[in-house]
Amino acid sequence: MGVFVSTDDPGPAGHEQVVFCQDRRSGLKAIIGIYSTALGPALGGTRFYPYASEEAALADVLDLSRGMAYKNALAGLDLGGGKAVIWGDPDQVKSEALLRAYGRFVQSLAGRYYTACDVGTYVADMDVIARETRYVTGRSVEHGGAGDSSVLTAWGVFQGMRAAAEHVWGSPSLRGRRVGVAGLGKVGRHLTGHLVDDGAEVVATDVDPRALEWARTNHPGVALVADAAALVAADIDVYAPCALGGALNDETVPALRARVVAGAANNQLAHPGIEKLLADRGILYAPDYVVNAGGVIQVADEIEGFNFDRAKLRATRIFDTTRQILRLADDEGVPPAVAADRLAERRMADVGRLRAIHLG
Ligand SMILES: NC(=O)c1ccc[n+]([C@@H]2O[C@H](COP(=O)([O-])OP(=O)(O)OC[C@H]3O[C@@H](n4cnc5c(N)ncnc54)[C@H](O)[C@@H]3O)[C@@H](O)[C@H]2O)c1
Repeated sequence: MGVFVSTDDPGPAGHEQVVFCQDRRSGLKAIIGIYSTALGPALGGTRFYPYASEEAALADVLDLSRGMAYKNALAGLDLGGGKAVIWGDPDQVKSEALLRAYGRFVQSLAGRYYTACDVGTYVADMDVIARETRYVTGRSVEHGGAGDSSVLTAWGVFQGMRAAAEHVWGSPSLRGRRVGVAGLGKVGRHLTGHLVDDGAEVVATDVDPRALEWARTNHPGVALVADAAALVAADIDVYAPCALGGALNDETVPALRARVVAGAANNQLAHPGIEKLLADRGILYAPDYVVNAGGVIQVADEIEGFNFDRAKLRATRIFDTTRQILRLADDEGVPPAVAADRLAERRMADVGRLRAIHLG
Protein backbone atom coordinates (compact mmCIF):
# COMPACT_ATOMS: atom_id res chain seq x y z
CA MET A 1 0.00 0.00 0.00
CA GLY A 2 1.66 3.18 -1.14
CA VAL A 3 0.80 6.80 -0.55
CA PHE A 4 2.05 8.34 -3.78
CA VAL A 5 0.31 7.87 -7.11
CA SER A 6 2.24 8.06 -10.37
CA THR A 7 1.58 11.16 -12.48
CA ASP A 8 0.59 8.82 -15.33
CA ASP A 9 -2.18 7.24 -13.25
CA PRO A 10 -5.52 8.18 -14.88
CA GLY A 11 -7.49 7.40 -11.69
CA PRO A 12 -8.26 9.59 -8.68
CA ALA A 13 -5.46 11.89 -7.66
CA GLY A 14 -4.31 10.07 -4.53
CA HIS A 15 -3.89 11.49 -1.04
CA GLU A 16 -2.87 15.07 -0.45
CA GLN A 17 -1.19 14.53 2.87
CA VAL A 18 -0.48 11.73 5.32
CA VAL A 19 0.86 12.65 8.75
CA PHE A 20 2.51 10.25 11.21
CA CYS A 21 2.23 11.39 14.83
CA GLN A 22 4.09 9.96 17.82
CA ASP A 23 4.26 10.78 21.51
CA ARG A 24 6.26 8.04 23.17
CA ARG A 25 5.47 8.92 26.81
CA SER A 26 1.72 8.60 26.33
CA GLY A 27 2.10 5.78 23.78
CA LEU A 28 0.39 7.72 21.01
CA LYS A 29 0.96 6.39 17.51
CA ALA A 30 -1.45 7.97 15.05
CA ILE A 31 -1.74 8.48 11.33
CA ILE A 32 -3.87 11.27 9.88
CA GLY A 33 -4.82 10.83 6.23
CA ILE A 34 -6.08 13.76 4.18
CA TYR A 35 -7.37 12.52 0.84
CA SER A 36 -8.79 15.75 -0.52
CA THR A 37 -9.46 19.32 0.54
CA ALA A 38 -10.95 20.23 -2.85
CA LEU A 39 -14.29 21.09 -1.22
CA GLY A 40 -12.99 22.39 2.12
CA PRO A 41 -11.22 21.15 5.23
CA ALA A 42 -11.08 17.37 5.49
CA LEU A 43 -13.55 15.84 7.97
CA GLY A 44 -13.57 12.27 9.22
CA GLY A 45 -13.45 10.34 12.48
CA THR A 46 -10.59 8.87 14.48
CA ARG A 47 -10.49 5.09 14.63
CA PHE A 48 -8.74 3.69 17.74
CA TYR A 49 -7.88 0.11 16.93
CA PRO A 50 -5.21 -2.54 17.72
CA TYR A 51 -3.98 -3.05 14.15
CA ALA A 52 -1.72 -6.05 13.54
CA SER A 53 0.94 -3.82 11.97
CA GLU A 54 1.79 -0.27 10.96
CA GLU A 55 1.10 -1.27 7.35
CA ALA A 56 -2.42 -2.36 8.29
CA ALA A 57 -3.03 0.95 10.09
CA LEU A 58 -1.75 2.91 7.08
CA ALA A 59 -3.85 0.87 4.64
CA ASP A 60 -6.96 1.52 6.74
CA VAL A 61 -6.44 5.26 7.07
CA LEU A 62 -5.79 5.63 3.33
CA ASP A 63 -8.92 3.69 2.51
CA LEU A 64 -11.13 5.41 5.07
CA SER A 65 -9.98 8.95 4.24
CA ARG A 66 -10.69 8.40 0.56
CA GLY A 67 -14.15 7.10 1.45
CA MET A 68 -14.85 10.23 3.51
CA ALA A 69 -14.03 12.49 0.55
CA TYR A 70 -16.71 10.73 -1.50
CA LYS A 71 -19.22 10.65 1.37
CA ASN A 72 -18.79 14.35 2.22
CA ALA A 73 -18.97 15.34 -1.45
CA LEU A 74 -22.30 13.56 -1.95
CA ALA A 75 -23.66 14.82 1.37
CA GLY A 76 -23.44 18.29 -0.18
CA LEU A 77 -20.96 19.45 2.47
CA ASP A 78 -18.26 22.04 1.89
CA LEU A 79 -15.81 19.59 3.38
CA GLY A 80 -13.10 17.37 2.03
CA GLY A 81 -12.22 13.85 3.11
CA GLY A 82 -9.89 12.76 5.86
CA LYS A 83 -9.65 10.20 8.61
CA ALA A 84 -7.25 9.26 11.36
CA VAL A 85 -6.24 6.05 13.08
CA ILE A 86 -4.68 5.62 16.49
CA TRP A 87 -2.76 2.37 16.59
CA GLY A 88 -3.31 0.55 19.87
CA ASP A 89 -5.88 -1.16 22.05
CA PRO A 90 -8.13 1.59 23.43
CA ASP A 91 -8.89 -0.51 26.53
CA GLN A 92 -5.16 -0.69 27.33
CA VAL A 93 -3.67 2.62 26.26
CA LYS A 94 -6.38 5.27 26.00
CA SER A 95 -5.61 8.06 28.47
CA GLU A 96 -6.13 11.79 28.88
CA ALA A 97 -2.49 12.44 27.94
CA LEU A 98 -2.69 10.29 24.80
CA LEU A 99 -5.90 11.92 23.60
CA ARG A 100 -4.58 15.42 24.31
CA ALA A 101 -1.30 14.65 22.54
CA TYR A 102 -3.37 13.54 19.58
CA GLY A 103 -5.42 16.76 19.82
CA ARG A 104 -2.24 18.83 19.56
CA PHE A 105 -1.28 17.06 16.33
CA VAL A 106 -4.76 17.76 14.94
CA GLN A 107 -4.34 21.42 15.96
CA SER A 108 -0.94 21.52 14.24
CA LEU A 109 -2.70 20.99 10.91
CA ALA A 110 -4.34 24.38 11.47
CA GLY A 111 -7.81 23.38 10.27
CA ARG A 112 -6.89 21.27 7.27
CA TYR A 113 -8.41 18.30 9.15
CA TYR A 114 -11.40 18.10 11.52
CA THR A 115 -11.78 14.96 13.57
CA ALA A 116 -14.84 13.12 14.98
CA CYS A 117 -15.79 9.78 16.60
CA ASP A 118 -15.30 6.42 14.95
CA VAL A 119 -14.78 2.84 16.10
CA GLY A 120 -13.06 2.98 19.50
CA THR A 121 -13.59 6.69 20.13
CA TYR A 122 -16.59 8.31 21.78
CA VAL A 123 -18.20 11.67 22.45
CA ALA A 124 -16.38 11.91 25.80
CA ASP A 125 -13.03 11.40 24.01
CA MET A 126 -13.84 14.25 21.61
CA ASP A 127 -14.43 16.52 24.62
CA VAL A 128 -10.90 15.67 25.85
CA ILE A 129 -9.35 16.17 22.40
CA ALA A 130 -11.18 19.52 22.20
CA ARG A 131 -9.07 20.79 25.12
CA GLU A 132 -6.14 20.91 22.68
CA THR A 133 -7.75 21.68 19.34
CA ARG A 134 -10.58 23.67 17.83
CA TYR A 135 -10.81 21.24 14.93
CA VAL A 136 -13.00 18.57 16.49
CA THR A 137 -16.66 17.62 16.08
CA GLY A 138 -18.84 14.94 17.68
CA ARG A 139 -18.50 16.59 21.09
CA SER A 140 -21.13 16.30 23.81
CA VAL A 141 -24.15 18.58 23.81
CA GLU A 142 -22.81 20.25 27.02
CA HIS A 143 -19.69 21.23 25.06
CA GLY A 144 -21.60 22.63 22.09
CA GLY A 145 -21.55 19.34 20.20
CA ALA A 146 -24.14 17.44 18.21
CA GLY A 147 -24.20 14.42 20.53
CA ASP A 148 -25.14 10.96 19.26
CA SER A 149 -24.87 10.97 15.45
CA SER A 150 -26.94 7.80 15.03
CA VAL A 151 -30.11 9.93 15.21
CA LEU A 152 -29.59 11.57 11.81
CA THR A 153 -27.76 8.55 10.40
CA ALA A 154 -30.98 6.56 10.82
CA TRP A 155 -33.07 9.41 9.44
CA GLY A 156 -30.85 9.59 6.35
CA VAL A 157 -30.95 5.81 5.82
CA PHE A 158 -34.74 6.01 6.00
CA GLN A 159 -34.73 8.76 3.35
CA GLY A 160 -32.40 6.78 1.07
CA MET A 161 -34.59 3.70 1.49
CA ARG A 162 -37.69 5.72 0.54
CA ALA A 163 -35.97 6.96 -2.63
CA ALA A 164 -35.01 3.37 -3.53
CA ALA A 165 -38.58 2.20 -2.87
CA GLU A 166 -39.88 4.93 -5.16
CA HIS A 167 -37.46 3.85 -7.88
CA VAL A 168 -38.56 0.22 -7.70
CA TRP A 169 -42.24 0.40 -6.77
CA GLY A 170 -43.24 3.91 -7.86
CA SER A 171 -44.02 5.17 -4.33
CA PRO A 172 -41.59 6.14 -1.56
CA SER A 173 -43.93 4.84 1.12
CA LEU A 174 -42.78 1.71 2.95
CA ARG A 175 -46.31 0.94 4.18
CA GLY A 176 -46.89 -2.79 3.92
CA ARG A 177 -43.30 -3.51 2.82
CA ARG A 178 -41.35 -6.11 4.76
CA VAL A 179 -38.03 -4.58 5.84
CA GLY A 180 -35.24 -6.71 7.32
CA VAL A 181 -33.02 -4.84 9.77
CA ALA A 182 -29.74 -6.64 10.58
CA GLY A 183 -28.37 -5.04 13.75
CA LEU A 184 -30.52 -3.31 16.34
CA GLY A 185 -27.81 -1.04 17.67
CA LYS A 186 -27.92 2.73 17.86
CA VAL A 187 -28.83 3.26 14.21
CA GLY A 188 -30.94 0.11 13.78
CA ARG A 189 -33.18 1.11 16.68
CA HIS A 190 -33.91 4.60 15.38
CA LEU A 191 -34.43 3.19 11.90
CA THR A 192 -36.90 0.61 13.22
CA GLY A 193 -38.89 3.44 14.79
CA HIS A 194 -39.12 5.34 11.47
CA LEU A 195 -40.12 2.17 9.62
CA VAL A 196 -42.82 1.24 12.10
CA ASP A 197 -44.16 4.82 11.98
CA ASP A 198 -44.32 4.57 8.19
CA GLY A 199 -46.35 1.35 8.37
CA ALA A 200 -43.63 -1.12 7.35
CA GLU A 201 -43.47 -4.66 8.70
CA VAL A 202 -40.05 -5.00 10.35
CA VAL A 203 -38.17 -8.28 10.61
CA ALA A 204 -34.95 -7.99 12.60
CA THR A 205 -31.99 -9.77 14.13
CA ASP A 206 -29.08 -9.01 16.45
CA VAL A 207 -26.38 -11.07 18.15
CA ASP A 208 -26.87 -9.20 21.41
CA PRO A 209 -29.80 -10.45 23.55
CA ARG A 210 -30.21 -6.94 25.01
CA ALA A 211 -30.98 -5.61 21.54
CA LEU A 212 -33.63 -8.30 21.05
CA GLU A 213 -35.11 -7.43 24.43
CA TRP A 214 -35.26 -3.78 23.36
CA ALA A 215 -37.29 -4.81 20.30
CA ARG A 216 -39.69 -7.00 22.29
CA THR A 217 -40.31 -4.19 24.77
CA ASN A 218 -40.52 -1.23 22.41
CA HIS A 219 -41.86 -2.76 19.21
CA PRO A 220 -43.67 -6.04 19.97
CA GLY A 221 -44.86 -6.13 16.34
CA VAL A 222 -41.29 -6.61 15.07
CA ALA A 223 -40.62 -10.23 14.04
CA LEU A 224 -37.25 -11.53 15.25
CA VAL A 225 -35.20 -14.13 13.39
CA ALA A 226 -32.20 -16.19 14.53
CA ASP A 227 -29.39 -14.53 12.59
CA ALA A 228 -28.42 -12.46 9.55
CA ALA A 229 -28.42 -15.56 7.30
CA ALA A 230 -32.06 -16.23 8.23
CA LEU A 231 -32.91 -12.59 7.55
CA VAL A 232 -31.25 -12.65 4.12
CA ALA A 233 -33.22 -15.79 3.21
CA ALA A 234 -36.50 -14.41 4.62
CA ASP A 235 -39.36 -13.15 2.47
CA ILE A 236 -38.43 -9.46 2.71
CA ASP A 237 -38.74 -6.55 0.27
CA VAL A 238 -35.91 -4.43 1.67
CA TYR A 239 -32.69 -5.48 3.41
CA ALA A 240 -31.08 -2.96 5.76
CA PRO A 241 -27.61 -4.03 6.97
CA CYS A 242 -27.03 -2.04 10.17
CA ALA A 243 -24.30 -4.08 11.86
CA LEU A 244 -20.85 -4.70 10.41
CA GLY A 245 -19.24 -4.25 6.98
CA GLY A 246 -19.13 -6.94 4.30
CA ALA A 247 -22.83 -7.82 4.63
CA LEU A 248 -23.13 -8.15 0.85
CA ASN A 249 -20.83 -10.96 -0.23
CA ASP A 250 -20.62 -14.08 -2.41
CA GLU A 251 -22.81 -16.05 0.02
CA THR A 252 -25.47 -13.48 0.94
CA VAL A 253 -26.18 -11.89 -2.46
CA PRO A 254 -27.24 -15.16 -4.21
CA ALA A 255 -29.49 -15.96 -1.20
CA LEU A 256 -31.02 -12.50 -0.86
CA ARG A 257 -34.76 -12.27 -1.59
CA ALA A 258 -35.13 -8.50 -1.15
CA ARG A 259 -35.47 -6.18 -4.18
CA VAL A 260 -33.81 -3.27 -2.37
CA VAL A 261 -30.75 -2.95 -0.12
CA ALA A 262 -30.44 0.23 1.94
CA GLY A 263 -28.72 0.23 5.31
CA ALA A 264 -26.37 2.06 7.64
CA ALA A 265 -23.36 -0.26 7.79
CA ASN A 266 -20.15 1.05 6.25
CA ASN A 267 -18.44 -0.91 3.46
CA GLN A 268 -21.33 -3.27 2.79
CA LEU A 269 -19.85 -4.58 -0.48
CA ALA A 270 -17.37 -7.27 0.56
CA HIS A 271 -15.25 -6.80 -2.56
CA PRO A 272 -15.34 -5.06 -5.95
CA GLY A 273 -17.71 -6.85 -8.30
CA ILE A 274 -20.46 -7.44 -5.73
CA GLU A 275 -22.29 -4.35 -7.02
CA LYS A 276 -22.48 -6.07 -10.43
CA LEU A 277 -23.73 -9.31 -8.84
CA LEU A 278 -26.52 -7.34 -7.16
CA ALA A 279 -27.45 -5.59 -10.39
CA ASP A 280 -27.48 -8.91 -12.29
CA ARG A 281 -29.93 -10.30 -9.74
CA GLY A 282 -32.18 -7.25 -10.16
CA ILE A 283 -31.49 -6.04 -6.62
CA LEU A 284 -31.32 -2.27 -6.25
CA TYR A 285 -28.45 -1.29 -3.95
CA ALA A 286 -28.59 2.20 -2.48
CA PRO A 287 -24.86 2.87 -1.87
CA ASP A 288 -23.97 2.75 1.83
CA TYR A 289 -21.91 5.92 1.91
CA VAL A 290 -24.76 7.87 0.32
CA VAL A 291 -27.56 6.75 2.62
CA ASN A 292 -25.53 6.67 5.87
CA ALA A 293 -24.21 10.25 5.53
CA GLY A 294 -26.68 11.63 8.10
CA GLY A 295 -24.13 11.10 10.87
CA VAL A 296 -21.41 13.13 9.22
CA ILE A 297 -24.01 15.77 8.29
CA GLN A 298 -24.95 15.94 11.99
CA VAL A 299 -21.40 16.36 13.28
CA ALA A 300 -20.34 18.66 10.42
CA ASP A 301 -23.08 21.04 11.50
CA GLU A 302 -21.11 21.68 14.69
CA ILE A 303 -18.58 23.66 12.69
CA GLU A 304 -21.29 26.30 12.11
CA GLY A 305 -22.62 26.02 15.70
CA PHE A 306 -24.94 23.03 16.00
CA ASN A 307 -28.53 23.45 14.90
CA PHE A 308 -30.52 20.19 14.87
CA ASP A 309 -33.28 21.42 12.53
CA ARG A 310 -30.78 22.63 9.93
CA ALA A 311 -28.85 19.36 10.12
CA LYS A 312 -32.06 17.32 9.83
CA LEU A 313 -33.07 19.28 6.74
CA ARG A 314 -29.71 18.46 5.17
CA ALA A 315 -30.05 14.78 6.09
CA THR A 316 -33.55 14.76 4.56
CA ARG A 317 -31.93 15.68 1.22
CA ILE A 318 -30.39 12.19 1.15
CA PHE A 319 -33.72 11.30 -0.47
CA ASP A 320 -32.96 13.59 -3.44
CA THR A 321 -29.33 12.52 -3.72
CA THR A 322 -30.26 8.82 -3.72
CA ARG A 323 -32.94 9.44 -6.33
CA GLN A 324 -30.45 11.35 -8.50
CA ILE A 325 -27.89 8.52 -8.25
CA LEU A 326 -30.40 5.82 -9.12
CA ARG A 327 -31.54 7.78 -12.18
CA LEU A 328 -27.95 8.43 -13.24
CA ALA A 329 -27.20 4.71 -12.87
CA ASP A 330 -30.11 3.90 -15.20
CA ASP A 331 -29.11 6.60 -17.70
CA GLU A 332 -25.47 5.54 -17.81
CA GLY A 333 -26.15 1.80 -17.57
CA VAL A 334 -23.94 1.30 -14.51
CA PRO A 335 -24.64 -0.02 -10.98
CA PRO A 336 -25.65 2.70 -8.45
CA ALA A 337 -22.32 2.33 -6.61
CA VAL A 338 -20.48 3.36 -9.78
CA ALA A 339 -22.92 6.22 -10.45
CA ALA A 340 -22.40 7.50 -6.89
CA ASP A 341 -18.62 7.53 -7.33
CA ARG A 342 -18.97 9.42 -10.60
CA LEU A 343 -21.26 12.03 -9.08
CA ALA A 344 -18.91 12.55 -6.12
CA GLU A 345 -15.89 12.90 -8.41
CA ARG A 346 -17.82 15.36 -10.56
CA ARG A 347 -18.67 17.58 -7.57
CA MET A 348 -15.09 17.48 -6.27
CA ALA A 349 -13.80 18.48 -9.71
CA ASP A 350 -16.48 21.06 -10.62
CA VAL A 351 -16.75 22.82 -7.28
CA GLY A 352 -13.14 22.25 -6.20
CA ARG A 353 -11.98 23.89 -9.44
CA LEU A 354 -13.61 27.19 -8.43
CA ARG A 355 -10.71 27.89 -6.06
CA ALA A 356 -8.72 28.70 -9.16
CA ILE A 357 -10.78 31.91 -9.44
CA HIS A 358 -8.64 34.45 -7.66
CA LEU A 359 -10.37 36.49 -4.96
CA GLY A 360 -8.96 39.96 -4.55
N1 LIG B 1 -23.64 5.67 14.36
C1 LIG B 1 -23.49 6.39 13.26
O1 LIG B 1 -23.73 7.60 13.24
C2 LIG B 1 -23.06 5.73 11.97
C3 LIG B 1 -22.82 6.56 10.85
C4 LIG B 1 -22.46 5.95 9.63
C5 LIG B 1 -22.33 4.56 9.58
N2 LIG B 1 -22.56 3.80 10.70
C6 LIG B 1 -22.41 2.35 10.58
O2 LIG B 1 -23.66 1.73 10.85
C7 LIG B 1 -23.46 0.48 11.52
C8 LIG B 1 -24.21 0.47 12.84
O3 LIG B 1 -23.74 1.55 13.64
P1 LIG B 1 -24.24 1.73 15.15
O4 LIG B 1 -23.75 3.06 15.58
O5 LIG B 1 -25.70 1.42 15.23
O6 LIG B 1 -23.41 0.61 15.87
P2 LIG B 1 -23.81 -0.23 17.17
O7 LIG B 1 -22.54 -0.85 17.64
O8 LIG B 1 -24.60 0.62 18.11
O9 LIG B 1 -24.81 -1.34 16.62
C9 LIG B 1 -24.44 -2.45 15.88
C10 LIG B 1 -25.38 -3.59 16.27
O10 LIG B 1 -25.13 -4.70 15.41
C11 LIG B 1 -25.16 -5.88 16.18
N3 LIG B 1 -24.42 -6.93 15.48
C12 LIG B 1 -23.08 -7.12 15.42
N4 LIG B 1 -22.80 -8.20 14.66
C13 LIG B 1 -23.98 -8.69 14.22
C14 LIG B 1 -24.35 -9.77 13.39
N5 LIG B 1 -23.43 -10.58 12.87
N6 LIG B 1 -25.66 -9.99 13.16
C15 LIG B 1 -26.60 -9.17 13.69
N7 LIG B 1 -26.31 -8.12 14.49
C16 LIG B 1 -25.02 -7.88 14.75
C17 LIG B 1 -24.57 -5.47 17.51
O11 LIG B 1 -24.93 -6.38 18.54
C18 LIG B 1 -25.19 -4.08 17.70
O12 LIG B 1 -26.44 -4.15 18.37
C19 LIG B 1 -21.93 0.32 11.63
O13 LIG B 1 -21.46 -0.38 10.51
C20 LIG B 1 -21.44 1.76 11.56
O14 LIG B 1 -20.11 1.82 11.08
C21 LIG B 1 -22.94 4.36 11.87
